[in-house]
Amino acid sequence: MKELNVAILGVTGAVGEEFLSILEQRNFPIARLKLLASGRSAGKWIRFRETEYAIEEAKPNSFEGVDLVLSSAGSAVSRQLAPHVVKAGALMIDNTSAFRMDPDVPLVIPEINPEDIFKHHGVIANPNCSTIIMLVPLFPIYRVAKIGRIVVATYQATSGAGRMAMEELKNQTREVLEGRTPTKKVFPYQIAFNLFSHNSAIKDDGFCEEEIKMMRETRKIFHDDAIRLVATAIRIPILRAHSEALFIECERKISLDEVRQVLREAPGVRLVDDREKNYFPMPIEATGRDEVLVGRLREDPSVENGIALFVSGDQLRKGAALNAIQIAELAFKIKP
Ligand SMILES: NC(=O)c1ccc[n+]([C@@H]2O[C@H](COP(=O)([O-])OP(=O)(O)OC[C@H]3O[C@@H](n4cnc5c(N)ncnc54)[C@H](OP(=O)(O)O)[C@@H]3O)[C@@H](O)[C@H]2O)c1
Repeated sequence: MKELNVAILGVTGAVGEEFLSILEQRNFPIARLKLLASGRSAGKWIRFRETEYAIEEAKPNSFEGVDLVLSSAGSAVSRQLAPHVVKAGALMIDNTSAFRMDPDVPLVIPEINPEDIFKHHGVIANPNCSTIIMLVPLFPIYRVAKIGRIVVATYQATSGAGRMAMEELKNQTREVLEGRTPTKKVFPYQIAFNLFSHNSAIKDDGFCEEEIKMMRETRKIFHDDAIRLVATAIRIPILRAHSEALFIECERKISLDEVRQVLREAPGVRLVDDREKNYFPMPIEATGRDEVLVGRLREDPSVENGIALFVSGDQLRKGAALNAIQIAELAFKIKP
Protein backbone atom coordinates (compact mmCIF):
# COMPACT_ATOMS: atom_id res chain seq x y z
CA MET A 1 0.00 0.00 0.00
CA LYS A 2 1.32 3.45 -0.91
CA GLU A 3 2.37 5.49 2.11
CA LEU A 4 1.28 9.13 2.15
CA ASN A 5 2.88 12.34 3.28
CA VAL A 6 0.31 13.66 5.73
CA ALA A 7 -0.03 17.07 7.37
CA ILE A 8 -2.35 17.72 10.31
CA LEU A 9 -3.35 21.36 10.52
CA GLY A 10 -4.59 22.23 14.03
CA VAL A 11 -2.91 19.24 15.65
CA THR A 12 -2.96 20.70 19.18
CA GLY A 13 -6.75 21.08 19.19
CA ALA A 14 -9.54 18.75 20.33
CA VAL A 15 -10.04 17.43 16.78
CA GLY A 16 -6.30 17.44 15.98
CA GLU A 17 -5.55 15.19 18.95
CA GLU A 18 -8.26 12.80 17.75
CA PHE A 19 -6.73 12.75 14.24
CA LEU A 20 -3.50 11.38 15.71
CA SER A 21 -5.20 8.73 17.80
CA ILE A 22 -7.38 7.49 14.91
CA LEU A 23 -4.51 7.47 12.39
CA GLU A 24 -2.64 5.26 14.85
CA GLN A 25 -5.60 2.99 15.60
CA ARG A 26 -6.40 2.45 11.90
CA ASN A 27 -2.75 1.95 11.03
CA PHE A 28 -3.01 4.64 8.36
CA PRO A 29 -0.07 4.34 5.92
CA ILE A 30 2.11 7.40 6.60
CA ALA A 31 5.49 8.05 4.99
CA ARG A 32 6.10 11.52 6.45
CA LEU A 33 4.01 13.35 9.04
CA LYS A 34 3.91 17.10 9.48
CA LEU A 35 2.26 18.59 12.55
CA LEU A 36 1.01 22.14 12.12
CA ALA A 37 -0.60 24.60 14.50
CA SER A 38 -0.31 28.30 15.31
CA GLY A 39 2.94 30.08 16.19
CA ARG A 40 1.95 29.61 19.86
CA SER A 41 2.60 25.87 19.60
CA ALA A 42 5.62 25.96 17.27
CA GLY A 43 8.57 24.10 18.74
CA LYS A 44 6.51 21.94 21.12
CA TRP A 45 6.79 18.17 20.64
CA ILE A 46 4.15 15.49 20.11
CA ARG A 47 4.74 11.72 20.16
CA PHE A 48 3.23 9.57 17.42
CA ARG A 49 4.07 5.90 16.79
CA GLU A 50 7.21 5.97 18.94
CA THR A 51 8.58 9.09 17.22
CA GLU A 52 8.72 12.66 18.56
CA TYR A 53 7.58 15.31 16.08
CA ALA A 54 8.17 19.05 16.47
CA ILE A 55 5.08 21.16 15.84
CA GLU A 56 5.58 23.75 13.10
CA GLU A 57 3.73 27.01 12.55
CA ALA A 58 1.34 26.60 9.59
CA LYS A 59 2.42 28.80 6.70
CA PRO A 60 1.56 28.98 2.97
CA ASN A 61 4.72 27.01 2.12
CA SER A 62 4.02 24.24 4.66
CA PHE A 63 2.47 21.89 2.10
CA GLU A 64 5.22 21.18 -0.44
CA GLY A 65 5.47 17.40 -1.00
CA VAL A 66 2.36 16.72 1.12
CA ASP A 67 -0.34 14.36 -0.26
CA LEU A 68 -3.05 14.80 2.37
CA VAL A 69 -3.92 17.67 4.72
CA LEU A 70 -6.33 16.93 7.56
CA SER A 71 -7.38 20.38 8.72
CA SER A 72 -9.13 21.62 11.85
CA ALA A 73 -7.66 25.01 12.68
CA GLY A 74 -10.78 27.11 12.22
CA SER A 75 -12.50 28.52 9.14
CA ALA A 76 -10.28 31.59 8.73
CA VAL A 77 -7.12 29.46 8.66
CA SER A 78 -8.68 27.01 6.19
CA ARG A 79 -9.75 29.84 3.89
CA GLN A 80 -6.30 31.36 4.01
CA LEU A 81 -4.32 28.15 3.47
CA ALA A 82 -6.55 26.05 1.17
CA PRO A 83 -5.30 27.71 -2.06
CA HIS A 84 -1.72 26.88 -1.04
CA VAL A 85 -2.65 23.27 -0.24
CA VAL A 86 -4.31 22.86 -3.64
CA LYS A 87 -1.39 24.55 -5.42
CA ALA A 88 1.00 22.09 -3.77
CA GLY A 89 -1.11 19.24 -5.23
CA ALA A 90 -2.34 17.92 -1.90
CA LEU A 91 -5.90 16.92 -0.98
CA MET A 92 -7.35 18.92 1.91
CA ILE A 93 -10.07 17.29 4.01
CA ASP A 94 -11.41 20.19 5.98
CA ASN A 95 -13.29 20.01 9.27
CA THR A 96 -14.24 23.67 9.39
CA SER A 97 -17.34 25.27 7.91
CA ALA A 98 -15.27 27.31 5.42
CA PHE A 99 -16.17 25.41 2.23
CA ARG A 100 -19.09 23.16 3.18
CA MET A 101 -21.69 24.95 1.09
CA ASP A 102 -19.34 25.74 -1.82
CA PRO A 103 -20.87 23.99 -4.86
CA ASP A 104 -17.38 22.95 -6.05
CA VAL A 105 -16.57 21.24 -2.74
CA PRO A 106 -18.02 17.80 -1.95
CA LEU A 107 -19.58 17.50 1.52
CA VAL A 108 -19.25 13.87 2.46
CA ILE A 109 -20.34 11.28 4.98
CA PRO A 110 -18.83 8.02 3.65
CA GLU A 111 -21.84 5.92 4.75
CA ILE A 112 -24.13 8.20 2.70
CA ASN A 113 -22.53 9.84 -0.35
CA PRO A 114 -19.07 8.29 -0.90
CA GLU A 115 -19.37 8.83 -4.67
CA ASP A 116 -19.12 12.62 -4.12
CA ILE A 117 -15.52 12.21 -2.93
CA PHE A 118 -14.32 11.76 -6.49
CA LYS A 119 -15.81 15.08 -7.66
CA HIS A 120 -13.31 17.11 -5.65
CA HIS A 121 -10.99 19.86 -6.93
CA GLY A 122 -8.48 19.61 -4.09
CA VAL A 123 -10.79 20.20 -1.12
CA ILE A 124 -13.38 17.92 0.49
CA ALA A 125 -15.46 19.22 3.38
CA ASN A 126 -16.40 17.26 6.47
CA PRO A 127 -19.95 18.15 7.56
CA ASN A 128 -20.82 19.82 10.84
CA CYS A 129 -20.56 17.40 13.77
CA SER A 130 -24.27 17.55 14.72
CA THR A 131 -25.21 16.97 11.08
CA ILE A 132 -23.07 13.82 10.88
CA ILE A 133 -24.39 12.38 14.16
CA MET A 134 -27.96 13.00 12.94
CA LEU A 135 -27.62 11.73 9.37
CA VAL A 136 -25.63 8.50 9.85
CA PRO A 137 -28.60 6.80 11.60
CA LEU A 138 -31.27 8.60 9.55
CA PHE A 139 -29.91 7.75 6.10
CA PRO A 140 -30.76 4.01 6.20
CA ILE A 141 -34.37 4.95 7.08
CA TYR A 142 -34.39 7.68 4.42
CA ARG A 143 -33.30 5.10 1.81
CA VAL A 144 -36.24 2.78 2.47
CA ALA A 145 -39.03 5.20 3.46
CA LYS A 146 -37.91 8.65 2.16
CA ILE A 147 -37.92 11.07 5.08
CA GLY A 148 -39.69 14.31 4.11
CA ARG A 149 -39.27 16.25 7.35
CA ILE A 150 -36.93 16.19 10.34
CA VAL A 151 -37.38 17.96 13.68
CA VAL A 152 -34.24 17.83 15.81
CA ALA A 153 -33.20 19.09 19.24
CA THR A 154 -29.52 18.73 20.13
CA TYR A 155 -27.73 18.18 23.44
CA GLN A 156 -24.17 19.19 22.55
CA ALA A 157 -20.99 18.52 24.51
CA THR A 158 -18.54 21.28 25.39
CA SER A 159 -15.75 19.65 23.34
CA GLY A 160 -17.70 20.72 20.25
CA ALA A 161 -16.35 24.20 21.03
CA GLY A 162 -12.75 23.00 21.33
CA ARG A 163 -10.13 22.10 23.90
CA MET A 164 -10.46 25.29 25.96
CA ALA A 165 -14.22 24.80 26.28
CA MET A 166 -13.69 21.37 27.86
CA GLU A 167 -11.29 22.97 30.36
CA GLU A 168 -13.90 25.65 31.10
CA LEU A 169 -16.48 23.01 32.07
CA LYS A 170 -13.98 21.25 34.37
CA ASN A 171 -12.82 24.51 35.98
CA GLN A 172 -16.33 25.89 36.46
CA THR A 173 -17.53 22.61 37.98
CA ARG A 174 -14.69 22.79 40.51
CA GLU A 175 -15.37 26.47 41.21
CA VAL A 176 -19.11 25.95 41.77
CA LEU A 177 -18.54 22.95 44.05
CA GLU A 178 -16.08 25.03 46.07
CA GLY A 179 -18.60 27.86 46.37
CA ARG A 180 -16.65 30.21 44.11
CA THR A 181 -17.96 32.30 41.19
CA PRO A 182 -17.39 30.37 37.94
CA THR A 183 -14.92 31.98 35.52
CA LYS A 184 -16.26 32.55 31.98
CA LYS A 185 -13.74 32.70 29.13
CA VAL A 186 -15.00 30.59 26.22
CA PHE A 187 -18.77 30.44 26.65
CA PRO A 188 -20.94 33.52 27.20
CA TYR A 189 -22.78 31.92 30.13
CA GLN A 190 -21.99 29.52 32.95
CA ILE A 191 -21.92 25.98 31.49
CA ALA A 192 -21.35 24.02 34.72
CA PHE A 193 -24.73 22.92 36.17
CA ASN A 194 -26.51 24.81 33.38
CA LEU A 195 -27.38 24.59 29.69
CA PHE A 196 -27.99 27.27 27.08
CA SER A 197 -28.85 27.86 23.46
CA HIS A 198 -25.88 26.97 21.20
CA ASN A 199 -23.15 29.60 21.38
CA SER A 200 -23.08 30.37 17.63
CA ALA A 201 -24.36 33.65 16.20
CA ILE A 202 -28.13 34.19 16.00
CA LYS A 203 -29.32 35.29 12.57
CA ASP A 204 -32.20 37.62 11.65
CA ASP A 205 -34.71 34.75 11.47
CA GLY A 206 -33.83 33.67 15.03
CA PHE A 207 -31.95 30.51 14.08
CA CYS A 208 -28.33 30.14 15.19
CA GLU A 209 -25.55 29.18 12.80
CA GLU A 210 -25.37 25.61 14.13
CA GLU A 211 -29.08 25.09 13.38
CA ILE A 212 -28.74 26.60 9.90
CA LYS A 213 -25.75 24.33 9.15
CA MET A 214 -27.80 21.24 10.04
CA MET A 215 -30.62 22.34 7.75
CA ARG A 216 -28.48 23.31 4.74
CA GLU A 217 -25.92 20.52 4.97
CA THR A 218 -28.60 17.81 5.13
CA ARG A 219 -29.97 18.93 1.75
CA LYS A 220 -26.51 18.92 0.17
CA ILE A 221 -25.45 15.52 1.56
CA PHE A 222 -28.75 13.83 0.67
CA HIS A 223 -28.93 15.65 -2.70
CA ASP A 224 -32.50 16.44 -1.72
CA ASP A 225 -33.55 20.10 -1.83
CA ALA A 226 -37.10 19.17 -0.83
CA ILE A 227 -36.31 17.72 2.59
CA ARG A 228 -37.58 19.99 5.40
CA LEU A 229 -35.74 20.33 8.68
CA VAL A 230 -36.03 22.45 11.80
CA ALA A 231 -33.39 22.37 14.52
CA THR A 232 -32.91 23.63 18.07
CA ALA A 233 -29.27 23.44 19.16
CA ILE A 234 -28.39 23.39 22.86
CA ARG A 235 -25.05 23.27 24.66
CA ILE A 236 -25.03 21.03 27.75
CA PRO A 237 -22.50 20.49 30.55
CA ILE A 238 -20.84 17.27 29.45
CA LEU A 239 -17.36 16.88 28.02
CA ARG A 240 -17.84 14.69 25.01
CA ALA A 241 -20.36 13.15 22.54
CA HIS A 242 -23.41 14.96 21.17
CA SER A 243 -26.94 13.61 21.61
CA GLU A 244 -30.03 14.50 19.61
CA ALA A 245 -33.78 13.93 19.86
CA LEU A 246 -35.04 13.28 16.33
CA PHE A 247 -38.59 13.34 15.02
CA ILE A 248 -38.96 12.26 11.39
CA GLU A 249 -41.87 12.09 8.98
CA CYS A 250 -41.57 9.44 6.29
CA GLU A 251 -43.36 9.28 2.96
CA ARG A 252 -44.75 5.83 3.77
CA LYS A 253 -45.71 3.97 6.91
CA ILE A 254 -42.68 2.21 8.36
CA SER A 255 -43.08 -0.11 11.36
CA LEU A 256 -40.74 0.00 14.33
CA ASP A 257 -39.69 -3.57 13.50
CA GLU A 258 -38.61 -2.46 10.05
CA VAL A 259 -36.77 0.57 11.48
CA ARG A 260 -34.96 -1.74 13.92
CA GLN A 261 -34.04 -4.16 11.14
CA VAL A 262 -32.76 -1.37 8.89
CA LEU A 263 -30.68 0.12 11.72
CA ARG A 264 -29.23 -3.27 12.72
CA GLU A 265 -27.90 -3.73 9.20
CA ALA A 266 -26.71 -0.16 8.65
CA PRO A 267 -23.02 0.77 8.64
CA GLY A 268 -21.77 3.15 11.33
CA VAL A 269 -24.67 2.75 13.76
CA ARG A 270 -25.41 0.60 16.79
CA LEU A 271 -28.93 -0.03 18.01
CA VAL A 272 -29.30 0.59 21.77
CA ASP A 273 -33.00 0.20 22.47
CA ASP A 274 -33.95 -1.81 25.55
CA ARG A 275 -37.32 -0.65 26.87
CA GLU A 276 -37.39 -3.14 29.75
CA LYS A 277 -34.18 -1.79 31.22
CA ASN A 278 -34.91 1.80 30.16
CA TYR A 279 -31.53 1.57 28.43
CA PHE A 280 -30.97 3.85 25.47
CA PRO A 281 -28.11 5.85 23.86
CA MET A 282 -25.98 7.79 26.34
CA PRO A 283 -23.06 10.12 25.57
CA ILE A 284 -20.88 8.38 28.12
CA GLU A 285 -21.24 5.13 26.14
CA ALA A 286 -20.84 6.86 22.77
CA THR A 287 -17.53 8.41 23.88
CA GLY A 288 -14.54 6.84 22.15
CA ARG A 289 -16.74 4.70 19.86
CA ASP A 290 -16.86 4.84 16.08
CA GLU A 291 -20.59 4.08 15.77
CA VAL A 292 -23.47 6.46 16.43
CA LEU A 293 -25.75 4.92 19.06
CA VAL A 294 -29.45 5.02 18.15
CA GLY A 295 -32.57 3.95 20.05
CA ARG A 296 -35.60 5.12 22.06
CA LEU A 297 -37.64 4.23 18.99
CA ARG A 298 -41.30 5.20 19.07
CA GLU A 299 -44.09 5.70 16.57
CA ASP A 300 -44.95 9.39 16.70
CA PRO A 301 -48.76 9.50 17.11
CA SER A 302 -48.90 13.25 16.42
CA VAL A 303 -48.13 13.02 12.67
CA GLU A 304 -48.58 10.61 9.79
CA ASN A 305 -45.75 8.09 9.29
CA GLY A 306 -43.78 9.65 12.15
CA ILE A 307 -40.94 8.03 14.09
CA ALA A 308 -39.17 9.41 17.18
CA LEU A 309 -35.57 8.45 17.96
CA PHE A 310 -32.69 9.42 20.23
CA VAL A 311 -29.03 9.29 19.19
CA SER A 312 -25.61 9.80 20.81
CA GLY A 313 -22.34 9.96 18.90
CA ASP A 314 -18.77 10.95 19.62
CA GLN A 315 -18.57 14.20 17.69
CA LEU A 316 -14.77 14.40 17.96
CA ARG A 317 -14.54 10.99 16.25
CA LYS A 318 -17.44 10.32 13.83
CA GLY A 319 -18.49 13.97 13.93
CA ALA A 320 -15.00 15.15 12.93
CA ALA A 321 -11.69 13.24 12.80
CA LEU A 322 -12.95 9.73 12.04
CA ASN A 323 -15.27 10.89 9.25
CA ALA A 324 -12.39 12.83 7.66
CA ILE A 325 -10.03 9.85 7.85
CA GLN A 326 -12.69 7.55 6.37
CA ILE A 327 -12.97 10.02 3.47
CA ALA A 328 -9.17 9.93 3.05
CA GLU A 329 -9.19 6.12 3.03
CA LEU A 330 -11.71 6.11 0.20
CA ALA A 331 -10.03 8.93 -1.72
CA PHE A 332 -6.63 7.18 -1.62
CA LYS A 333 -8.08 3.63 -1.80
CA ILE A 334 -6.65 2.63 1.57
CA LYS A 335 -8.07 -0.45 3.30
CA PRO A 336 -8.75 0.39 6.98
N1 LIG B 1 -14.64 20.10 18.32
C1 LIG B 1 -15.49 19.48 17.53
O1 LIG B 1 -16.29 18.63 17.96
C2 LIG B 1 -15.52 19.79 16.07
C3 LIG B 1 -16.28 18.99 15.24
C4 LIG B 1 -16.32 19.27 13.87
C5 LIG B 1 -15.62 20.34 13.40
N2 LIG B 1 -14.88 21.12 14.24
C6 LIG B 1 -14.16 22.27 13.67
O2 LIG B 1 -12.76 21.98 13.72
C7 LIG B 1 -12.05 23.19 13.98
C8 LIG B 1 -11.16 23.00 15.20
O3 LIG B 1 -11.95 22.63 16.28
P1 LIG B 1 -11.32 22.14 17.66
O4 LIG B 1 -12.48 21.78 18.49
O5 LIG B 1 -10.22 21.15 17.47
O6 LIG B 1 -10.69 23.53 18.21
P2 LIG B 1 -9.53 23.78 19.26
O7 LIG B 1 -9.46 22.68 20.26
O8 LIG B 1 -9.73 25.16 19.75
O9 LIG B 1 -8.19 23.74 18.37
C9 LIG B 1 -7.89 24.71 17.40
C10 LIG B 1 -6.64 24.32 16.66
O10 LIG B 1 -6.40 25.28 15.63
C11 LIG B 1 -5.07 25.76 15.76
N3 LIG B 1 -4.96 27.15 15.29
C12 LIG B 1 -5.60 28.24 15.76
N4 LIG B 1 -5.22 29.34 15.08
C13 LIG B 1 -4.31 28.94 14.15
C14 LIG B 1 -3.55 29.59 13.16
N5 LIG B 1 -3.63 30.90 12.96
N6 LIG B 1 -2.72 28.84 12.38
C15 LIG B 1 -2.62 27.50 12.57
N7 LIG B 1 -3.32 26.82 13.50
C16 LIG B 1 -4.15 27.53 14.28
C17 LIG B 1 -4.77 25.66 17.24
O11 LIG B 1 -3.38 25.72 17.43
P3 LIG B 1 -2.73 26.34 18.80
O12 LIG B 1 -2.89 25.29 19.85
O13 LIG B 1 -1.31 26.58 18.41
O14 LIG B 1 -3.49 27.60 19.10
C18 LIG B 1 -5.39 24.29 17.53
O15 LIG B 1 -4.52 23.28 17.10
C19 LIG B 1 -13.09 24.30 14.10
O16 LIG B 1 -13.25 24.95 12.85
C20 LIG B 1 -14.34 23.54 14.46
O17 LIG B 1 -15.51 24.21 14.07
C21 LIG B 1 -14.81 20.86 15.56
